[in-house]
Amino acid sequence: MSGRIPRQFIDDLLVRVDIVDIIDSHVPLKKTGSNYAARCPFHNEKSPSFNVNRNKQFYHCFGCGAGGNVISFLIEFNHLSFVEAIEELATFAGVEIPYENQTNFEPEAKNKLLDLQQLMAQVATFYVEQLKTHVQKNIAIDYLKGRGVQGVIARDFMIGYAPDGWQILSPHFKNTELLCEAGMLAFKNDMYYDRFRQRIMFPIRNKRGHVIGFGGRVLDDTQQPKYLNSPETLLFHKSNEVYGLYELLKKNSKPARILIVEGYMDVITLAQFGIDYAVAALGTNLTATQLQLLFRSTSEVILCFDGDKAGQDAAWKAMDAVFSVLNDNRQVRVLLLPSEHDPDSLLRSEGVETFTQRIENAEMVSSYFFNHFTVKLNLDSIEGRAKLAHQAKPFLLKLADSFFKEMMLAKLKELTDFDVAPAIEKENTAPQENRHQKENQNVRHSLERLTLALLVQNPKLVKKLEVNPMDWQALDFAGIETFQKIVQQICVEKPTTTAQFLEHYRNSPDEKMLNALASLTILIPEEGIEAEFDGALNQLISQGRKNRLDKLQIQATTSGLSEDEKEILRNLLQLMQR
Ligand code: UTP
Ligand code: MN
Repeated sequence: MSGRIPRQFIDDLLVRVDIVDIIDSHVPLKKTGSNYAARCPFHNEKSPSFNVNRNKQFYHCFGCGAGGNVISFLIEFNHLSFVEAIEELATFAGVEIPYENQTNFEPEAKNKLLDLQQLMAQVATFYVEQLKTHVQKNIAIDYLKGRGVQGVIARDFMIGYAPDGWQILSPHFKNTELLCEAGMLAFKNDMYYDRFRQRIMFPIRNKRGHVIGFGGRVLDDTQQPKYLNSPETLLFHKSNEVYGLYELLKKNSKPARILIVEGYMDVITLAQFGIDYAVAALGTNLTATQLQLLFRSTSEVILCFDGDKAGQDAAWKAMDAVFSVLNDNRQVRVLLLPSEHDPDSLLRSEGVETFTQRIENAEMVSSYFFNHFTVKLNLDSIEGRAKLAHQAKPFLLKLADSFFKEMMLAKLKELTDFDVAPAIEKENTAPQENRHQKENQNVRHSLERLTLALLVQNPKLVKKLEVNPMDWQALDFAGIETFQKIVQQICVEKPTTTAQFLEHYRNSPDEKMLNALASLTILIPEEGIEAEFDGALNQLISQGRKNRLDKLQIQATTSGLSEDEKEILRNLLQLMQR
């Protein structure tokens, strides 16, 4: 694949395929009235609360809150990326994706990426050749043998050798500038020289198998630094990538779990012992992006850290990222190894069975999380329990709405003997608003929400707004900006279904709100919807006018009105008398 997928193509695709067919081929559906239902594939349940609506081209689970269009379903169900989901849909519909040239890239920049990709592939191959042919190859081969690395694994991971020398790559590749941009050269004292010298080379490949960077290990442990990594380049962003994912997915594209370890050699040794589902974070704190990357291919991630202080700290530091990506379909466990070991050394000393048993017994993140606090705090005292609530709160705030979150809150309540949920909910909802405004908003919430939900669920209703355009200037109610924005967008985009409309908001700040509107249950029969919308809209308009009128009248007696405002006031008074 290459280039962007045109917006129009995605819109058309959403009309061409039927969500009922697609979901039915993954999760058999039963017709229930105007909906199709099944037991939810995203959480465990006994009776079906997973609904698919053909008109809206939208699914929603009343049990776990999962919902979205067919693209969202494929992303969630098959753990695909957005592009992969579109590719699968296109295949289903039997159409070709008309990839556009990447318009937000200068053509030059795009060529640069391709050039870099090509060069990195050649450099990796070059280092592999050096391991076979260089006059000093035996130093490297002996090192690898000494560490017990077998030939097959060295081949699978494309392990290579960067010979000892300052000027090896430039004369060979004859493109100093590109080598430099690829991070393969360093510059000092007016001179470019090879960044990696006399090192075992571990190419870092992205999910698609392109070499994007390298890690290089010294052959002699007295040398520093032990590992040297590629710098950030156009291709390589260390905190977005993990080592070993391409190799892992090549063996198994749907692993039941993925183990995250600390080192390159750990991944290699684990694979060699048949534990071929490990990746390494690249010597940085684990990021949410790295976890998301893994959760696209699996539903369980096990953090496996060395048992020393550094490993323990790293495990705890990972909680920030973990809590921001967890949901009911994702599981994280934590495995801390005995303090003098890393996976490589432990596996070699205790054997694969005992090690696998450790993986089986790895601690659930929920238990690891609470234990982390409770071992240090005295929960017999109010002081200790308050500390627990205080320290746990920022993490729980990061959790997406889910049963997991509710249960973590329930556990915290049990441990502290105090209900912290209200405090956490309060923090979660716009703290900048004062209470008065907030109450006001709650009163009007339902009408505004109902009107918007009707519109989002039946985008054709927008014709009502075109026939009877509202004088927005004269309206004032909480959330009017959002209302206005959505109405205007529906007017412009004229989506045929809810699914198509929502697609334009994927990954936008409004996505969650719109999904909620799309799944709001409105118990109105098909034929009554238009009348209901008319009624709600009229009520909203008169309420909005009344608010505006009140404000203008107060203003008239205090700071006074401009000519425009006087005009609006007159119009409003006239309208209200009708
Ligand atoms: P370790 O020092 O634990 O290395 O670093 P290791 O994997 O056990 O290495 P061996 O067994 O001695 O070969 C773990 C990871 O931290 C990063 C690397 O990614 C390494 O794999 N690291 C370590 C660096 O980036 N630079 C260093 O100097 C050391
Ligand atoms: Mn090690």
